[in-house]
Amino acid sequence: MKYPKEYLDEIKTRLKVSTVVSKVVSLKKRGKEFIGLSPFKTEKTPSFTVNDEKEFYHCFATSEHGNIFDFVIKTQNLKFGEAVKSLANLAGMRPYTFSKQDEVREKNWQEYCSIYNQYIKFYHVEILKNESLTIARDYLKKRNLTKNEVKKFKIGFVERNSNFYEKLKDEFNEKILIESGLFYLDEKKNTYVERFRDRIIFPINNISGQPIGLGGRTIKENNYLAKYINSPETPFFKKGSNLYNLDLARKLSNKIDHVYLVEGYMDVVGLSKIGIENVVANLGTSLTDKQILILNQFFEDIIICFDGDESGYKAALRAAENSIKELQPEKQISFLFLPDGEDPDSYVNKNGKVNFIDFTKQSKISIHQFIFNHYKKQTDNNPSSMAIFEKKLRAIAKSIKDDFIKKYVLEYFLEKISSLTPHSNMGKKHFYSKKIKSLQSTQKHFNESKSLSGVELKEFSLLYLIMNNLEIFQDNIYLIENIKLFSSENKLIFEAVLSKLKSKEKFTIEEIAIDPQLVDKINKFASIKHILNNNQNDQEKMFGLLEEISRDLKNYDLEFRIEELESKFSKDLSESTFNEIRELKKQKNIN
Ligand code: UTP
Ligand code: MN
Repeated sequence: MKYPKEYLDEIKTRLKVSTVVSKVVSLKKRGKEFIGLSPFKTEKTPSFTVNDEKEFYHCFATSEHGNIFDFVIKTQNLKFGEAVKSLANLAGMRPYTFSKQDEVREKNWQEYCSIYNQYIKFYHVEILKNESLTIARDYLKKRNLTKNEVKKFKIGFVERNSNFYEKLKDEFNEKILIESGLFYLDEKKNTYVERFRDRIIFPINNISGQPIGLGGRTIKENNYLAKYINSPETPFFKKGSNLYNLDLARKLSNKIDHVYLVEGYMDVVGLSKIGIENVVANLGTSLTDKQILILNQFFEDIIICFDGDESGYKAALRAAENSIKELQPEKQISFLFLPDGEDPDSYVNKNGKVNFIDFTKQSKISIHQFIFNHYKKQTDNNPSSMAIFEKKLRAIAKSIKDDFIKKYVLEYFLEKISSLTPHSNMGKKHFYSKKIKSLQSTQKHFNESKSLSGVELKEFSLLYLIMNNLEIFQDNIYLIENIKLFSSENKLIFEAVLSKLKSKEKFTIEEIAIDPQLVDKINKFASIKHILNNNQNDQEKMFGLLEEISRDLKNYDLEFRIEELESKFSKDLSESTFNEIRELKKQKNIN
């Protein structure tokens, strides 16, 4: 018995050729294809290629060529049925069991396809050939659709009084005709009528190009008829697993890495008309995980471009929250927001292809950016609102299935939040930057003092004072022995003088080996010089000045140590560091 085509297609949709082949052949990516050593012959240079988009492998050495089933049959020496079983298993599908039911289903599928094919062909030919359908033809013209688009998308028109049911009822039974969703029972008249009457119809194909449903647009502008209706869900048409134009768009995936996902049939047709054919639409329902997964199988970047109105924005948000779960490494989901009131079709009609592509490049934002921006807009700058905001973003990040993506999206969110929250972080940031700044300024201070300012000038005054009153200090060494100096040169002189003073020997300053240039500097820059000279022999005044200098130097020392400890505290936040700082500050104030 034959496997239903539907079942085999599902296996093919789920399994890339490269996935199947790489179980046997080690493949390397080269552009859109993979290459490897042929499994059909021994070779040193690879002549075996795999193309996932085209769903085949090709061996240039042996001319072997085929799909996943052929590959398994040839490399594992299996019969077709065994290959299907093995691949279904790999695809995570249940083995197909042939039963009476399956046989019926397979027959139904064949009939379903046949009904749709006949129906679409008939109404397509009608709109192309039947010149009496002026209203519909004018409508298409008004929408800027030429014969090319009508043909490419097999667009049709179902006239008000037409009834294809009558044409089909001899060939197909009532049940299957009703199951197609193309007709329904008019209970008043007790006849079957066309669901899509008075509508332009857009065939919706499955991934292999077989029509399985319709979208239909009324050509009348009124409020009591739904603008669009779609085929109801049938056993063979599941809206959440299909996308309008996927069968054509996916064929471009070996050339183009991104796909536009739009809201409407007319958006697909409008973009296609100007040469943007990598576009699909969801089918009047919200976007499903499955649709995202299917698109990501063919394209690296899904650009969701819904209408520039409130309902488009809401749909985009729903799509974002739902599809972020499916984000995978090396895949992207982006959003493109059109100007108010525009949809992709109206936008390209006004602005053309180049503008639309530029607009995409400039304006598309990634899914995590969009989600962040959206919730940020809803958030007030108060702790409770911020808490809700952070919670929501964490929950969204947590919903992502891939662990790596989850980690990076969460990091992205938290980093963005921390850049916004003055309450919890800016203070800290400020604190850090203040500390860093003060450390730098301390450093600068010392550098400047080297070029004769601040501390060093104070030290010069101290040294001048001592050097000119050696005898007095020899008797009162306690007044100076605990003073701490900063600049290393001054420190050396100070220590040399101090040890000479402690020796109790009488000495002159010339006896100490001091760099004469430094002595010159001290004599020149010690600001205390003039005061001292004006108060010669005034010992009390001299002690007063000494006290002042030593207090200033002590404060410099304390300040420096406090700065250091504060910087340490900003890192370790330890209580002991904090206490030390408090102690030093107290000392500084006493000073
Ligand atoms: P829009 O109303 O945005 O359609 O609906 P559109 O593509 O701009 O249509 P035109 O340009 O006026 O012809 C977008 C999609 O939403 C679904 C359809 O799938 C449609 O393509 N829809 C819309 C419905 O299912 N029912 C409706 O009544 C309207
Ligand atoms: Mn539109």
